[in-house]
Amino acid sequence: MAPSSSSSSTSASSSLQRLNNIANHISPSMASATSFPADTVPQAPEDALFGLARAYKADTNPQKVDLGIGAYRDNNGKPWVLPVVKKADDILRSNPELNHEYAPIAGFPEFTSKAAELILGADSPALREKRATSMQTISGTGAVHLGALFLAKFYKGNRVVYLSNPTWANHKQIFGNVGLQTADYPYFSKKSNGLDFDGMKAAIQGAPDRSIILLHPCAHNPTGVDPTLDQWKELAAIMAQKKHFPFFDCAYQGFASGDLARDAAALRYFIDQGFELVVCQSFAKNFGLYGERAGCFHVVTSPASDASATIGRIASQLAILQRSEISNPPLYGARIASTVLSDPALFTEWEDNLRTMSGRIITMRKELRSRLEALGTPGTWNHITDQIGMFSFTGLSETQVQKLRDEYHIYMTKNGRISMAGLNTNNIDHVANAIRKVVGETQ
Ligand code: LMR
Repeated sequence: MAPSSSSSSTSASSSLQRLNNIANHISPSMASATSFPADTVPQAPEDALFGLARAYKADTNPQKVDLGIGAYRDNNGKPWVLPVVKKADDILRSNPELNHEYAPIAGFPEFTSKAAELILGADSPALREKRATSMQTISGTGAVHLGALFLAKFYKGNRVVYLSNPTWANHKQIFGNVGLQTADYPYFSKKSNGLDFDGMKAAIQGAPDRSIILLHPCAHNPTGVDPTLDQWKELAAIMAQKKHFPFFDCAYQGFASGDLARDAAALRYFIDQGFELVVCQSFAKNFGLYGERAGCFHVVTSPASDASATIGRIASQLAILQRSEISNPPLYGARIASTVLSDPALFTEWEDNLRTMSGRIITMRKELRSRLEALGTPGTWNHITDQIGMFSFTGLSETQVQKLRDEYHIYMTKNGRISMAGLNTNNIDHVANAIRKVVGETQ
């Protein structure tokens, strides 16, 4: 029998009474008791990049320009779903066999094997000699994290990770979170707005033997400044002599120059030299799969008679780490990428899409530089076209960045990095004029 309304209201009021009684017995000190007081869990600052994106979104000025987060935009300032990704998506959706079962712990094999071929090269000696292993990860960030975790647990060399100064803001906290110390090597010269190659070499030479050196193989974030291939060769020679451990973080293959092999040339050179190393690979930028978190982590061991046994042991430990961290990786982005990577016609179309993105960015570099020069903006602006990839490190000061935001609604990170993809033919005059004014006023 259903309870009558009068009996249910009686029981509700007696529960309320019980709760009141409990509340009356909680002293004010007990009410505020927590295992996480402010001195052990202080308020953390908001992530600078995502905070910037939020501030941009909230700005109602119609002239606002987003040069913050590194995500490709088309000439209308809109996110671009690559046409080849749309095709792959249609193929996946029309497959009646598609299901949502778990992926294997190491990820979905069609994806990891194609990802390895893409970055290491299909003819890589590491693949031929079976001395590489690959784990699908939560995009490039997940790959860096997995690599950091693996090194924190097993690396017996100098357990300090050397990062370029500056580097992607997240690197330091990823390594810090797994208990690895970080140090800096000089990278960017404020004088030339280019590479401080001498400083970089000296620091790598001066680091204790067997240090971990994090390198961006192309389209360095945040500066857009890359060593030349000859400079990479010099660095490789120093690192071999010092027995350093290369940790490559590659988020922009094909996106930098539009040429997949060229953007991977530095790390392939290191593999050819016989280094044992790791590579973190992101599919966010080159496939426009930002939110789908498709990525891969690769370990390559040096040529040796026991190399495949070594890589087998490494793979077994990575599987344990992966299982405890994420169990197994997400499927959708990896399915899209592997559909494209395994079909020659789609692959060719993807290369074309890559050239569309890198080409538009290169055009924007030229347009911005020529406008700044034509306006007589104090300083030199050749670095805008000398730099490569998603970002340009403009050399603008924090004060200038703030003025651009407050007075012209132009958003960029406070270190003066601009995402070139945020520029388009509709906003480039506004941006160039604003930079001209702000630089002129704050000289
Ligand atoms: C960036 O640097 O803007 C991108 O790599 C996005 C990110 O996650 O930081």
